[in-house]
Amino acid sequence: MKQFTSVQDVADVNALVQEALALKRDPLLYQHLGQGKTLGLVFMNPSLRTRVSTQLAAYNLGMQVVVLNADKDNWALEFQDGAVMRHQTVEHIRDAAAVFGSYFDVLGVRCFPALQSRDDDYSEHIMRQFIEHSGLPYLSLESATLHPLQSLADAMTIQEHRPKHRPKVVLTWAPHIKPIPHAVANSFAEWMHRLDVEFVVTHPEGYELDSRYTQNATIEYNQQKALQDADFVYVKNWSSYEQYGKVLTEDPSWLLTEGHFAQAPNAKIMHCLPVRRNVELSDEILDGPRSLVQQQAKNRIFAAQAVLKNLKSS
Ligand code: CP
Repeated sequence: MKQFTSVQDVADVNALVQEALALKRDPLLYQHLGQGKTLGLVFMNPSLRTRVSTQLAAYNLGMQVVVLNADKDNWALEFQDGAVMRHQTVEHIRDAAAVFGSYFDVLGVRCFPALQSRDDDYSEHIMRQFIEHSGLPYLSLESATLHPLQSLADAMTIQEHRPKHRPKVVLTWAPHIKPIPHAVANSFAEWMHRLDVEFVVTHPEGYELDSRYTQNATIEYNQQKALQDADFVYVKNWSSYEQYGKVLTEDPSWLLTEGHFAQAPNAKIMHCLPVRRNVELSDEILDGPRSLVQQQAKNRIFAAQAVLKNLKSS
C-alpha cells in the first residue's frame, strides 16, 4: 500500500481489520520493523486521538516520529500554484513537501476542509499536494472528505462486539452548535459498504451525504424507525452537503437518550470523539453500558499500526 487515504486504498478490508486485531493482542510483535525509519506527522488542525495513537503505533513498530503543528512549528504554507507570495504565507507546499520527502520515510497529514467551497474541499487539493510534492508513502490523519484511520478502528470495534454475523449498523446525525465536516460520516459509510453489515443512515432532510459514499445504504428520515433492532448506532454530526457547510437545524430531539432505545434494547453506541456532551450525545449514554467510545479510541493505536506496517514506498 503506497497511500492510505480511503477504503479504496485497501485491497482486503477484512484482512486489514484482522491484522489490526492481531497487533492489539501482541503490539510489539514487529517492534524492529520500523527501525531506522522516520514518520513525519503534520497537523493543520487540532487532534488528541489521531496525534497520540499514531505516535504510539509508530513507536510499537520501532519508528521515530517528528510532529509539526502547521503554521505554528513551520512557516505558513501556500497551496495556490503560481501564487505571488506577498501576503501571509511564507513557504510554498511545493518546497516544504519536497523537504519532507528528503527527511521522512512516511508522511501523515491532517487537513480539514474550509467548508466554504464544496468543489475545493472535495478536490482534496491540499492532501494531493502533500502526496505529489513529497513523493512519500502517505497516511491520511483526516482529510477534507475522509477519515480512514477512524473508520478502520470503528470496523475493528464492530468486529469485536458484533452479536451476529450480519449486524444492523445505523449512522445517525446528531445536533451540533457549528458546521462540522463530513469526513467521519463519509468514511464510515464507505467502510460499512465493504463489510458484511446491514447499513442504515438517518438524518433530518437536507443532511443527505454525498451518494458516492453512502452508495446503496438505506436512507431513513425517521430516526426512531431507523434505530429499530439496531446492533450498533454510530452518532455523528455533519453539516449540509447540498447547502454546503450550512447548519440547517439544531433539533434537540435527535440527541440520543435511553428513551430512544425501546426498540433496540441491545444497541451499542459509537462516536469518534471528541463529543459535545448533552449536545451530540447524552451523559447517560456516554457513561452507560451501551457506549463503545473508549474501545474505539483505544483501537486507533492498532489501526494506525496495521496501516503503518503495510505502507511501502512502491
Ligand atoms: N477521532 C479523532 O480523530 O480524534 P482527534 O480529532 O482528537 O484526533
